[in-house]
Amino acid sequence: MFEKEYEIATLAARSAGGLLKQKFGNVQHIDKKGEIDLVTEADIAAEKIILKMLRDHFPKDNILSEEAGAHDLASDRTWVVDPLDGTTNFAHGFPFFAVSIGLEIENEMVLGIVYNPFMDELFEARKGEGAFLNHNPIHVSHARNLKESLLVTGFPYDIGKKSNRIFERFRTMVLASQGVRRAGSAAIDMCYVASGRLDGLWEENLKPWDTAAGAVIVLEAGGRLSTCDGKAYTPYRRSLVACTPMIHEAMVMALKD
Ligand code: IPD
Ligand code: CA
Ligand code: CA
Repeated sequence: MFEKEYEIATLAARSAGGLLKQKFGNVQHIDKKGEIDLVTEADIAAEKIILKMLRDHFPKDNILSEEAGAHDLASDRTWVVDPLDGTTNFAHGFPFFAVSIGLEIENEMVLGIVYNPFMDELFEARKGEGAFLNHNPIHVSHARNLKESLLVTGFPYDIGKKSNRIFERFRTMVLASQGVRRAGSAAIDMCYVASGRLDGLWEENLKPWDTAAGAVIVLEAGGRLSTCDGKAYTPYRRSLVACTPMIHEAMVMALKD
């Protein structure tokens, strides 16, 4: 299913990723969207490549993309794009960032591509067809409880506004688990959960383009998704738990205020 969509989204992710790799370590221009929220010339250039390919091949589809915003054609198909997930890492020369492209049809995520150009790792999934890393099937881990789980999280750009709750949750999870990482790319974090490199992720204040593609990949790899308080996941709810199924309940319980 979705052969053409898969082919074009993969090509777009690889082309944009190639550009990011070229520009990595040589960022000339950085703007600020907020006090600690950056956007570089690479975000914009990568986005142009992706949007052109999507518009050329799927001219009737909506596109929701981080820097360009919403291109709404009243279609029931929406491409959800983050041209560079991990901009802060990228701007500092920390090699952990990705291109993320997802397709939502009738309010359901059906295709996800996350490409980490630095590692040349392409994570992908189509609904009902499994999840893959560079064409090899991936699966979430077999962790059974938090004490044997390596978790990951992220902090929102407006952390100053609710730092108490975020740090309280962070403290709880550090004490409950085997360790907590904060790597700086929610899209890659989700793919690491999908491939069993990590056992669970929680984060708040995420945007649709941070999680849309990763969501299909986690589900197709056998993982669970919800908000931090256990409600059903959608890319438009800003809070996320993504994990191997056996620890889902424990994560949601631990995150309760
Ligand atoms: C950010 C990354 C980060 C997460 C932030 C996101 P960006 O995306 O995914 O890991 O903690 O909430 O905004 O700004 O680099 O595309
Ligand atoms: Ca992002
Ligand atoms: Ca981004």
